[in-house]
Amino acid sequence: MADHERIVCESAALVEGGRGMRFDVPGQDRVVPCFAIRFDGEVVAYVNSCPHRGTELDWQHGEFFDESGLYLICATHGAAFDPASGECVSGPCAGERLFRIGIREEHGRVVLESDTGAAQSS
Ligand code: FES
Repeated sequence: MADHERIVCESAALVEGGRGMRFDVPGQDRVVPCFAIRFDGEVVAYVNSCPHRGTELDWQHGEFFDESGLYLICATHGAAFDPASGECVSGPCAGERLFRIGIREEHGRVVLESDTGAAQSS
């Protein structure tokens, strides 16, 4: 792992369709709130900002999935997102996407990739 990469959490902390891990990424002029979840066995991370109004998605701290565990939901107006692609599949921002950031698993840990692009997300 390169010096500039950052460990977000242990891999075991992210279970399929379960609680997400919130973390921050330094942006150009502010800290960018992000989150990681596990879906279809893969760890995926997005900027924690709904394309509709820019509010954070989680309905309770770290809770992003709906009760089925198949969609991410926005707590503000109920938009539903495909966890794998970040595309809004229903709600006021249908067709828009969450901003994905680079993350991977390595040696049992979830690692933020060095160039996440989060600084340019908003
Ligand atoms: S702010 Fe997310 S659906 Fe409106």
